Amino acid sequence: MRRSQTHLLLACFSILFLPVSAPASSPILETCAECHGVDGMGQGLAMVPLIAGIPAEHIEDAILSYVDGVRRCTHEPRMCETVASLSESEVAEVAEYYAGKTRGASAEETDGELASQGERVYNEHCSACHVSPDSEEAAYAVGIPLHGQRADYLRYAIDAYISGDREVQFEAMGQELGELRPGDIDALVNFFSSYRPAD
Ligand code: HEC
Ligand code: HEC
Repeated sequence: MRRSQTHLLLACFSILFLPVSAPASSPILETCAECHGVDGMGQGLAMVPLIAGIPAEHIEDAILSYVDGVRRCTHEPRMCETVASLSESEVAEVAEYYAGKTRGASAEETDGELASQGERVYNEHCSACHVSPDSEEAAYAVGIPLHGQRADYLRYAIDAYISGDREVQFEAMGQELGELRPGDIDALVNFFSSYRPAD
């Protein structure tokens, strides 16, 4: 085979295989990946939530909440700046992309006793809307998946609803948060971050 033909063949192969090995498929996704990672599991940056496998509708809603100020980017203004300029179809594209990634867990160290205390608090106050990612209802759950989310982000997000920094969009959730007793939040955070995926 002539050299140029070999090159042509190689070029065809690399085009064929590019979508599989390319880190992210658009400049926008490359920006998201700087903080959330190509796989949605984060880059280890403080206060950046894991977003892999969150149902697309929830990702879209969360992005729109940052755009219209219902949620604020207290620690990382660039998150809000990045999503502010996205078109409707770009929001749909990034949501679909991260929804399609496998949801893992932050795998942080947790206190077992606090985690089981947290499970009781969860069952009483949160499980109606926030279900385990392994549950059959995960795709249709009312709330965003919290199991496996990073502890520092969870603590911050829960505090933000309670302090009013983040608008509570579901009255029923505000009510449950209002019923928490001292120590419950710490227990809940330990419970959520003790989650490990089924396999
Ligand atoms: C500079 C870092 C950074 C960049 C770039 C960034 N994010 Fe974020 N993202 C964050 C941080 C930090 C938060 C939490 C913000 C808060 O609530 O204070 C967040 C929150 C989110 C959430 C909410 C997750 C949840 O669990 O509710 C989604 C969804 C999200 N980002 C998607 C994106 C997408 C899609 C892009 C690209 C268009 C993007 N982010 C770009 C840092 C970033
Ligand atoms: C009636 C349903 C409902 C109940 C009960 C509920 N939530 Fe939520 N929760 C939601 C919805 C819907 C969202 C997404 C909307 C939003 O961003 O506020 C949400 C979002 C959250 C978030 C932000 C997630 C993220 O990734 O940024 C946290 C944290 C949270 N809830 C914690 C709790 C805790 C803790 C409890 C129990 C004490 C609870 N919720 C009970 C419906 C509920």
